[in-house]
Amino acid sequence: MGSGVELPSGRPSGLVGRQVAHYRIDAEIGRGGMAVVYRAMDLRLGRTVALKLLAPELARNDTFRKRFAHESRVAAAIDHPNIVPVFEAGETDGLLYIAMRYVPGQDLRALLDRTGPLPVATAVRIAVQVASALDAAHAHELVHRDVKPGNVLVAEGTDSDRPEHVYLTDFGLTKKSLSLTGFTSVGQFVGTLDYVAPEQISGRPVDGRCDVYSLGCVVYETLAGAPPFRRDDDMALLWAHQYDPPPPLSDVRAGLPSGVDAVLAKALAKAPEHRFDSCMGFVTELRRAAKGRAGGPDREGTGGPDRPPEDHLDFPPPPAGPPPPPPAPPLWALPVFRGTGTAA
Ligand SMILES: Nc1ncnc2c1ncn2[C@@H]1O[C@H](COP(=O)(O)OP(=O)(O)OP(=O)(O)O)[C@@H](O)[C@H]1O
Ligand SMILES: [Mg+2]
Repeated sequence: MGSGVELPSGRPSGLVGRQVAHYRIDAEIGRGGMAVVYRAMDLRLGRTVALKLLAPELARNDTFRKRFAHESRVAAAIDHPNIVPVFEAGETDGLLYIAMRYVPGQDLRALLDRTGPLPVATAVRIAVQVASALDAAHAHELVHRDVKPGNVLVAEGTDSDRPEHVYLTDFGLTKKSLSLTGFTSVGQFVGTLDYVAPEQISGRPVDGRCDVYSLGCVVYETLAGAPPFRRDDDMALLWAHQYDPPPPLSDVRAGLPSGVDAVLAKALAKAPEHRFDSCMGFVTELRRAAKGRAGGPDREGTGGPDRPPEDHLDFPPPPAGPPPPPPAPPLWALPVFRGTGTAA
């Protein structure tokens, strides 16, 4: 692909094969509410990267733009094994882009959608790595603000002691601080509200403990198969985060060690001062509780030599052969076609 094939609508078939700044776009990896992520080749260094193109609405928003510049710089300065390294953040043709390490594997959203709830040991191993990344960011005064399964990338680990290697991505790239009412001024959805902390909703100042809350929601989902609060509409969901007690995990998943409920309840406390002070504080307690006596029949350990047989993830093989035809790019990406002779 990439030969400028026109779809019946007259829209180009994709950016695949095109060049954006000094990157050649090879395949679309995924898209969220505010960006499209591509596998691309950095033509200057000859290495594969993940190239994220952000919607131009964000480039026009001064608050976002300033935060993007600042937080990309801070994120790039954090050298941590569980944080996706940022290579470059820049702008071309009115689009903000960010080039980062390409992580082969899948994100935790895709993993949970495919497998459902994870074995306790796997959930704990993933939580520990995300927590370590978050505490490192907090030590640099950087609050993530958008911890959610889609921002946790799960790659194959090195050996049976570390069956998966987890990377956290997208620091400071959330739109939620710009609008929490569900839609931005131009009607674009802000993304999921399943993991948002009460103080983010009420507009109070946030610190690292808002990431403790969101990580609590993510851990809850990895164990229960669904986040703590599910409501029919956004307003009800925001209300629940602020005022409703989360259902005990043991109501949703049988057989968990009895101490796990209390640990999750503390991570999900409404007031930041009632939560764990740090993400590692949370997952250390989680790991300890998970080693306790199970309350039911499907008892599980936390790894080690007697790791249960189901405690491993299947990693999809790397893409082979030519990629499938990409979907049409979003309209906002069209400016990068200018000058290539394929723009509509
Ligand atoms: N560095 C990377 N390496 C490999 N895949 C990545 C990388 N960064 C992102 N992806 C993939 O691209 C997908 C889309 O990312 P994106 O951040 O745009 O969306 P999201 O996080 O799912 O949603 P949102 O728009 O709310 O942020 C991710 O879910 C992930 O699967
Ligand atoms: Mg993301």
